[in-house]
Amino acid sequence: MSAALNDCDEKSPFLLENEGAYQAWRARKLKIRQQLSPDRVFELDQQARLPQSMLEQARVQVDAYNFVLFQSAEEMDKKAFLELNHQFGLYRLDSNLGADQDSVTSLQVVAASDERAQYIPYTNRALNWHTDGYYNPHERRINAFALYCVHQAERGGGNHLFDHEWMYITIRDREPDLLAALMDEGLMRIPANVQGNRVIRPEESGPVFSVQPDSCALNMRYTSRPHNIVWKSDKRSEQALNFVREILMDGEGVIDLRLQQNQGIVCNNILHGRQAFHDKAERPGRLIYRARYYDAIDLADAPDSQVSGG
Ligand SMILES: [Fe+2]
Repeated sequence: MSAALNDCDEKSPFLLENEGAYQAWRARKLKIRQQLSPDRVFELDQQARLPQSMLEQARVQVDAYNFVLFQSAEEMDKKAFLELNHQFGLYRLDSNLGADQDSVTSLQVVAASDERAQYIPYTNRALNWHTDGYYNPHERRINAFALYCVHQAERGGGNHLFDHEWMYITIRDREPDLLAALMDEGLMRIPANVQGNRVIRPEESGPVFSVQPDSCALNMRYTSRPHNIVWKSDKRSEQALNFVREILMDGEGVIDLRLQQNQGIVCNNILHGRQAFHDKAERPGRLIYRARYYDAIDLADAPDSQVSGG
């Protein structure tokens, strides 16, 4: 592990001391963002796989925006959804509270009597800016997730996205002195989730930005929810967090989209949120499959379009 950390120390564009690496990485990212549209939808083939001929384009799309939109010709089941994610190098699933047995979460409105109804994702309420699993311990850091829309809501239910690397660039370009506060291990503390006498999740703390030791990728943990979170309260931390809020409110760099039936997104753990929505009583309600991963997207060795048993 220490060797990997040293590797990242030397070459990561996300460390202030590596200014040359940062400028080169930033220039490439800006260039490809100018050339590509974030709302391109990649059409899957009849086996619900990304055609081999599109892998390179998907890879550049991820470099530019940290997400790829896709559309299947027919409804995908959860197995096909997971196999598609394998093409993006996503294998190590996180099984969060509320996930189905296969570790895929079926996001839909649940009955008030259901234990999950206390969590906003299982209601029709809006979800404010966050990254997924920000409360997870270090060894279960979420680096990517995927969504697939089985049914969209009658009204609402759109998502807003913000590339976490774009957030890093905005801060480093405008207020680089605030980055140290955002990388401070003690910045974010999430008190334990205790219900009755049972500890559902122990207390967790950590930074907003970190460099992942295995991939050297940038990870972001964030929530704009004021509840169940304690931020470090010194002046520098407050300035840094206010700046993040300002950037998100400013709107530049925010991408709005509304997944249609049979559309999905594979992304690194970018900032995102969800609009409130309304389901009609007489038809299936909004249903989104979600899979969270410890891996970051890696299209370098994407398997070909043959269906694998994995
Ligand atoms: Fe989320």
